[in-house]
This record gives sequence, structure tokens and C-alpha cells, in this order.
Amino acid sequence: MQPALSVDCRHRHNALLITVTLKSSGRQFPVAPGETVLEAAQRAGIALPYSCRAGVCGSCKATLLEGSCSYPRNPPVALHGVAPERHAVLLCQAVPCSDLLIEAREVTSVEDIARRRLEVVVGDKRPLAPDVTGLRLYPAEGQPRLNWLPGQYLDVLLEDGKRRPFSIACGPQPDAAIELHVRHVAGGGFTSWVHDELQPGDRLRIEGPLGTFVPREDSERPMIFMAGGTGFAPVKAIVEHFVALGTRRSMRVYWGARSLADLYQLPLARSWTQAAHDLRFEAVLSDPAQAAAAGLREGLVHEAVLRDQPDLSGHDLYMSGPPAMVDVGRELFCAAGLPEERLYYDSFEYAPDVLAQILAARAGLHTV
Ligand SMILES: Cc1cc2nc3c(=O)[nH]c(=O)nc-3n(C[C@H](O)[C@H](O)[C@H](O)COP(=O)(O)OP(=O)(O)OC[C@H]3O[C@@H](n4cnc5c(N)ncnc54)[C@H](O)[C@@H]3O)c2cc1C
Ligand code: FES
Repeated sequence: MQPALSVDCRHRHNALLITVTLKSSGRQFPVAPGETVLEAAQRAGIALPYSCRAGVCGSCKATLLEGSCSYPRNPPVALHGVAPERHAVLLCQAVPCSDLLIEAREVTSVEDIARRRLEVVVGDKRPLAPDVTGLRLYPAEGQPRLNWLPGQYLDVLLEDGKRRPFSIACGPQPDAAIELHVRHVAGGGFTSWVHDELQPGDRLRIEGPLGTFVPREDSERPMIFMAGGTGFAPVKAIVEHFVALGTRRSMRVYWGARSLADLYQLPLARSWTQAAHDLRFEAVLSDPAQAAAAGLREGLVHEAVLRDQPDLSGHDLYMSGPPAMVDVGRELFCAAGLPEERLYYDSFEYAPDVLAQILAARAGLHTV
């Protein structure tokens, strides 16, 4: 049967039980009416890759081998430019119209960790850079500890039901601390409040852990890490994990920003080179005057990666940061030989509700 995509599936009878089968493992799970493939998999305790949950970043891309689905929520923006014959499907948005057979990467390492909601107290708040605030959150009295894998993120739950995703900048700590690096977004409601008003002792509601940007330990390949701005947060957590493990694998860590002040934990990143068996760290500034004054590499961070490693076919690559950096990294790193399934990333998109509004506004403009 040829896979097919449609805008909605009016022919699906509501009572029809739909089953998704994952080709590589043979695992199957049911999908309730209106549910996306990703939601149904999560309900069944099966971890498929995702990041933005809004149809934009592409990390949930899989191959549809049989069946048909629709995109009644957000349009599958991340599939633009993908040749139709590749039968790509975005699991975070695709609602099945029939039974599906899918080829998707499963991330079994995150499956055993319970996702929970809890109240946390702000233990520490400090400026890390002019527009980046460091937070340390602790479970409030009587609340459970959060468990997570390095690189995962959490959602801050806002009073109006909206959520704001932030990566956890450390692995689980003995004192249960959760470290966040929050960039102040111009015009952003939550990050402005964090920057201007949040105080130690204040409480937040969070849900986590989320995401599949986690260490992959089933490989002996050399690793490259690329962070842009506060994309450093999850990369820090994953690199610290591998350093603590005493890995013998080679690690090349790149951190890009505009100015020196944006590289807000430079001494820490440099200290990894002493602690690890084979780790090199490169700081890259896009502002030429700042780069020259600081004696650092100049340019865009992905350019530095490609200059040092023009052939990426033998590497695993982790990247995290602004969507523009992640987009260009995806394209150029795969063109440099990196197999797509060895590229792991979190793209720091805005929250799903904001993206949905922006995409809906764009669609409205296009139909006028
Ligand atoms: C997986 C993941 C991990 C992340 N981790 C981090 C991290 O560790 N650190 C970090 O700093 N960031 C991180 N981010 C990004 C972070 O979640 C966003 O910066 C944050 O959600 C912004 O929230 P806000 O309420 O301040 O801004 P919002 O109020 O959501 O606004 C964001 C921007 O969109 C504009 N906007 C809002 N509504 C509309 C609309 N309807 N139409 C047009 N424009 C609109 C606003 O003016 C503003 O410029 C992560 C994102 C993801 C997806
Ligand atoms: S496009 Fe589906 S998680 Fe980002």
C-alpha cells in the first residue's frame, strides 16, 4: 500500500480503533480519535524523538511506509522541501486516518523515567549574561524529586494553561537542584517576567522531563557538540555526563554567540579539556571586532565545525540553540556526510501555542 497524506481524515469513523506499528521493533500502539502519533506513543510508554511539538523543528520526522494521516492542527512546516517520494511524516502533528506502518527511531533510554508535575521553589537567581538569567529550582516541601536524563527539558506551566519549555542545564544533582539558563526574549511574556520580577523564594509549576535530546551511549564514534547561545544548557548537561563517565571517545565542543559576554560560562567549558580524555573546546564569535579583541574564532559556529571536520560521515553530532542555527546545521552537516539518524538536536523554538498562532496568522495571510 502506498502511504498518503491528507489535510483531514473525514473518512475516519470515530469508533474505529487505529493501530500504529513501528517497523524496526515491531511494537504497536493504539491511537484515539484526534490524537497525534506522538501523543499516542507517549500514552503507550513508547519514546519517539521530538523537540518543539509544533511541526516546525523536524526532529520527530519519520518515514510512513503504509497508511495515511492528516495534519488538522499545525501545518507540517518541517516537511517543506522534503521530496514526496521519501514519504516523510511529522509524528508530533500527524493524526492517523488508518492503521500506519512507520519507520521511526525509538529512544528507549527515556522510556523508564516517569514524567511528573511538581511545584518548585526558586533557590537562586543570577544574571549570567546581559540577557541570560541562571535559575536553580528545588522541589517545594513534600514534592517529589524530578528525575531526568542529561539534555532533557521541562515545561514551566503558566496560570493560563500555556507552557514554556526550558532545557535543564545539568544532570540530576544530589541536592535535587534543577539548573536553567533563561534568555530574555524581546516581547516575551514569561522570560521578561523571569528577567525583571521573579525572586528567590518564588514558586513555579513544572512538568518534566520532556524531549529526547539525550546521550547515546550505544556508539564508539567521535562526538561533536554545537551550541548557540543558551543552547549551551543541554549541551553542558550531556558533555558533563560523558566527562563524568570517563568516556574515551573524542569530543569536540563548539559554542557560538555574538559577543564575548554571551559565552556566559566560558571558564567552565574550558575546564572540561582538563577533565576529559580527549576533549577540545572552541568558542566562536560572530561579531568580528569582539572575536579579534578576545582572540577567539570569528564567524558562525557551524562554519567552524565544518572547517575543522569537512567529512562528518564517521561522527555523532549533538546540537542545540536558535532555530536558524539548527536549520542550517541540519542541512549542511547531512551534506557533509553525517547520516540523519546520528544528528541529535533541540531547536529553541517558541512554545507550541505561540508557534500555532504565528502559523495560523501566516496561513490567514496566504489565503487572503
Ligand atoms: C525544547 C526547547 C527547549 C528550550 N530551552 C531553552 C533554554 O534552555 N533556554 C532558553 O533561553 N530558551 C529555551 N527555549 C526557548 C524558550 O522556550 C522560549 O524562548 C520561550 O518559550 C519564550 O517564552 P516567552 O513567554 O518569554 O515568550 P512568548 O510570549 O512566547 O513570545 C515569544 C516571541 O514571540 C512573539 N509572539 C508571541 N505571540 C505571537 C503571535 N501571536 N504572533 C507573532 N509573534 C508572537 C513575542 O513578541 C516574542 O518575540 C527552548 C525551546 C524549546 C522548544
Ligand atoms: S516538528 Fe515535531 S517535534 Fe518539532
